[in-house]
Amino acid sequence: MANSNNGVLGSLMAWVDERLPVTDFYKHHLSEYYAPKNFNFWYFFGSLAMLVLVNQLLSGIWLTMHYKPDATQAFQSVEYIMRDVPWGWLIRYMHSTGASAFFIVVYLHMFRGLMYGSYRKPRELVWLIGMVIYLVLMAEAFMGYVLPWGQMSYWGAQVIINLFGAIPVVGDDLTMWIRGDYLVSDATLNRFFALHVVAMPILLLGLVVIHLAALHTVGSNNPDGIEIKAKKDENGKPLDGIPFHPYYSVKDILGVAVFLIFFAGIIFYAPALGGLFLEHDNFVPANPLVTPIHIKPVWYFTPFYAILKAVPSKLGGVIAMGAAIVMLFLVPWLDRSPVKSIRYKGILSKIALAIFTVSFVTLGWLAMQAGSETQTLVARICTVLYFLFFLLMPIYTSIEKTKPVPERVTK
Ligand code: HEM
Repeated sequence: MANSNNGVLGSLMAWVDERLPVTDFYKHHLSEYYAPKNFNFWYFFGSLAMLVLVNQLLSGIWLTMHYKPDATQAFQSVEYIMRDVPWGWLIRYMHSTGASAFFIVVYLHMFRGLMYGSYRKPRELVWLIGMVIYLVLMAEAFMGYVLPWGQMSYWGAQVIINLFGAIPVVGDDLTMWIRGDYLVSDATLNRFFALHVVAMPILLLGLVVIHLAALHTVGSNNPDGIEIKAKKDENGKPLDGIPFHPYYSVKDILGVAVFLIFFAGIIFYAPALGGLFLEHDNFVPANPLVTPIHIKPVWYFTPFYAILKAVPSKLGGVIAMGAAIVMLFLVPWLDRSPVKSIRYKGILSKIALAIFTVSFVTLGWLAMQAGSETQTLVARICTVLYFLFFLLMPIYTSIEKTKPVPERVTK
C-alpha cells in the first residue's frame, strides 16, 4: 500500500484515502505500529484468539443454516447436520472444538498478562476490557451449549440459571425472567439462540476492536515489562521496537500453522476428546424427567464450579464464584510491585503465581470428579489459595526484594 502511489492502483488509493484514511489506518496499526522486539511464545495467543473468533463466527453462520431452534427439533437438527448435511460434521466439530480452543487460547493469553504485568499502568483498560470479553465469552459458550438440547444442555442450563435464585428478594423472579418459563423450555432455547447467534457475537467483535484500540493507544508490553516508548531514536521510533508488519505478521503465521495442526488433529481424531470437549451425556436428547447422575459444566467453567461447590451454602457459593471473577478485575490495583514482569519480581510473587496456577487447574479437575470427602477438602483448600493469591498481593508485591530491570529489552 505504501508503494502504490503510481499507476491506476495508486490513483485509486489516493482517491479512497481522501475520503477514508485506509493507508493511515494500515500504517498506524500495522506497518508503523512498533511492537517490542522481544515478543516470545506467549505473545502468539492474542492473534490466535482472533483466529478462533473468526472460526467461531464462520462455522456458526453455517451451522445456523441447518440448525432448528425448537425444543422438539433442535437435537434432531444437530444429528442431521452431523449425518446428512455435506461436510456438516466438519463444520459442527470446528465449532465445538473451537469453543474449547477459544478458552485454552484465552486462558494462556490471560496467564501471559499475569506473568508480565500487562495489566499494570498504562494498560489497565486493555486488561479490564479483556475481562469483559472473558465474561461475554463465558455467557456465549454457556448459551451455545444449551442449543443442541442434549441432557447436559438441559440440566446444565437448569443448574446454572437456578443459581440466580440464590439472590435474596429478586432471585425467583430473576430465574423466571431468564428462562421465560417455569422451567427450562422452548422459550429458553429460543432466547438463548437469539443471544448466542446475534447479540453476543456483535458484542464480542465490538469489544475486541476496543481491546485493540486501547492496546495500540498505549503500546504493547513485553516479557521484560519495559516501556519501549521511553527510549526513541532521532525519528521518534522506539529503539527496541520493530514494525508489526512484516515482522510479527509473519511470526504470527507460524503460530497459526502450529495451532492448526493441533486443532485439525483434535477435529479429525478425537472431536469429543474423551468427553472433555463434548460431554457423553449430551449425545442423549434432553429429558426433563431424567436427571443425569453427575451434572457438571464443560471443562472451561469447572474451576469456578468447584469454588461454587466448595462453599456449603448456595448463596455463599454464588458469592464466592462471583468474587473469584471480580478478583481478576482488580489485579491492576492489587499489584504494588515496582517492576512489571515476573522476570524481575521477587521469590514471593513467583511462588504465589505458581500456587495460584496449580490451585486453579486442581479446582478445574476436582469439579469433574465424583466429589469424595477428600476431594471436597482439597477443593476448599484450593479455593482459599485462589483468593489468597489476590488478597495478599498488595503485601507480597511490596515487601519482596525485586531484581534490577535492564535499561533496554533483553531476549
Ligand atoms: C476474544 C478474546 C480476545 C482477543 C481476540 C484478544 C486479542 C488480543 C490481541 C490481538 C492482543 C495483542 C497481541 C498480544 O499481545 O498477544 C491482545 C493483548 C492483550 N490482551 Fe487480549 N484478547 C482477548 C481476550 C483477552 C482477555 C480475556 C484478557 C484478560 C483479561 C486480555 C488481556 C490482554 C492484555 C493485558 C494485552 C496486552 C498484552 C501485552 O501487551 O503484554 N485479552 N489481545
